[in-house]
Amino acid sequence: MSTLLEELQRVKTFEYTEEDVVQFEALHEEIRSLKKERNAVIVAHNYYRPEILKVADFVGDSLELALMASNVRDADVIEFCGVHFMAETAKIVNPSRTVLLPNLLAGCQLAGSAPAEDLRARRDELKKQYPDLAVVSYVNTTAAVKALSDVICTSANAPKVVRSLPNKNILFVPDRNLANFVAKQVPEKNIIPWDGFCYVHQQITPQEIERIRQADPELEILVHPECRPDVAKLANAVLSTSGMVKYAKEKSAKRFLVVTECGLSDRLAMEVPDKQFLKGCKLCTFMKVTTLDDVRDSLKYMRYEIEVPEEIRVPAERALRRMFDVAG
Ligand code: 13P
Ligand code: SF4
Repeated sequence: MSTLLEELQRVKTFEYTEEDVVQFEALHEEIRSLKKERNAVIVAHNYYRPEILKVADFVGDSLELALMASNVRDADVIEFCGVHFMAETAKIVNPSRTVLLPNLLAGCQLAGSAPAEDLRARRDELKKQYPDLAVVSYVNTTAAVKALSDVICTSANAPKVVRSLPNKNILFVPDRNLANFVAKQVPEKNIIPWDGFCYVHQQITPQEIERIRQADPELEILVHPECRPDVAKLANAVLSTSGMVKYAKEKSAKRFLVVTECGLSDRLAMEVPDKQFLKGCKLCTFMKVTTLDDVRDSLKYMRYEIEVPEEIRVPAERALRRMFDVAG
């Protein structure tokens, strides 16, 4: 079995020294003892810093984390190492638990691109033209947007969720690239995209991918659906972050180009040492802002607690549960 130092030294995004790892091990000890004291469970998104993933009880994509949070029964506290909308989702589906986000700067630019009042106005205007209009919101949205939505989806299930609806006309919020991917998979629907995008995935160009592929034609190319359509077109598979982990572990291929935020290729480098993961990735500052010290302080001082008002939480939960029923 590899030591923490060996695992972290496979990571390419950060350079860890032996001293860093000694500090991490001490913090892990402190965090484990605080976790026991608070009766907490630590969940972390795939993009988080590797030293945080190593202390988490559960690591996953947005769908897995939402389902996991909804099933927490024994713990009193959910320490959510993700971005704000993910912690909010955990509170929506499990309101009797205390949900903590260790750093309030961990927002999401994509979620911020669709304010609830703008969505309400757009929906009302479109309904005049399309009376059967349904609002499908990506999980990367605020609780207030979820409350205005018929159903939620994630990158792991968006085509399935859209296909399940009786409505033909769908306002898809807020990611236009994911909307485009869904429109291709479900051509029988009229997908009206919101004009949002993720600044991390939008930066990745087809030229970049082509250049890497020309140098190594055997590479399997895994692309996140938040990428531009001309990038998605070059993929062997378009998958959610955990979909990529599963694919890379199961496929016999030895070399992969992982086209998403850099945390994913770091997780893979730690967990799958016999395969190679080339980085076609960019860094999400929101996902990387939280440090291991923040995680410790969050449990120590019980901060920052996420609250969702009941008048928003109840309709938002309805939209989330509808997704769990169709594609959970
Ligand atoms: P996943 O649900 O695929 O992990 O994606 C979350 C996200 O924020 C991608 O940028
Ligand atoms: Fe939001 Fe993009 Fe960061 Fe994901 S990668 S959390 S969508 S800003």
